[in-house]
Amino acid sequence: MPDSITDHYSTHLDGHQILSQIDSHYPQGPDLYQLAPIDQLHTGGIKASERLLSHLSEGQQVLDIGSGLGGVMRLIAERASCQVTGIDLTHSFNHLNTEIGQRWNSDIAMQTATADGQSLPFTTHCFDRVLYQHSLVNMPDKSAALNEAARVLKPDGQVILHELIQGPAYQDLQYPVPWASKAENSHLMTEYDLQHLLNKAGFSQLAVNNWSDDARQWRQRQLSKENGNAVKTAPLSPALVLGEGFKQMGRNIMQGLACDAIQVIEVIARH
Ligand SMILES: C[S@@+](CC[C@H](N)C(=O)[O-])C[C@H]1O[C@@H](n2cnc3c(N)ncnc32)[C@H](O)[C@@H]1O
Repeated sequence: MPDSITDHYSTHLDGHQILSQIDSHYPQGPDLYQLAPIDQLHTGGIKASERLLSHLSEGQQVLDIGSGLGGVMRLIAERASCQVTGIDLTHSFNHLNTEIGQRWNSDIAMQTATADGQSLPFTTHCFDRVLYQHSLVNMPDKSAALNEAARVLKPDGQVILHELIQGPAYQDLQYPVPWASKAENSHLMTEYDLQHLLNKAGFSQLAVNNWSDDARQWRQRQLSKENGNAVKTAPLSPALVLGEGFKQMGRNIMQGLACDAIQVIEVIARH
């Protein structure tokens, strides 16, 4: 069983197979929807990422913390014409993110770096937006992470969070889940703790939206697809990232959402 966060994300990752599937099925370059099964590793998939676009404007400098395989980075670069930088603790993700990006659209340049969101390798005041999409879930020191976000944001910059938080029945969550094979690597906070930490880091909240109902419906649709033939025959599957255990992870998320062990929220806060 993987025991660190980076092991959790790299153990089953089959980058070679992902690139060879892209090359053979999408020789003209994959589009954002074709890549979504492997590069939108969060509840709600690409549709949830599209909802975040309304918080971005053309030309902004955006930092995606815990960028994974880069799905939202590509979406933001293509649809919102922002300059996007991604950092992720899992080096093999960053490497593959770059390779996928070159096959998707070699004209759009995006920077990736292997770094820890709790200690960012950037100077102060260099980003207009900092985004966390299901990545704070893995960070034990959220206070350090949010202080770092505050430091790299320009004055009046905003943090955008699309995150999982604890629900009232958190103790009933079953593992593995996509972000952790065991409870020790899952660092979900309560909404109260998140609001407290944001305030402490100097943020004032502009909006808080609970997306749990949408996430439940989306997860239900994914389960139906996973039980049918479409996912088995699709060129790209989450199994190439998370292993065959991804189906059990999906069932555990569904159960966690259904019994209110976990919730999904979007928070926008200004510094
Ligand atoms: C559930 S995945 C989400 C990936 C991506 N944001 C997405 O939605 O597709 C969580 C990501 O956070 C990264 N991560 C975990 N802890 C991190 C840390 N301390 N600093 C930077 N990235 C981290 C993991 O390597 C992983 O890629």
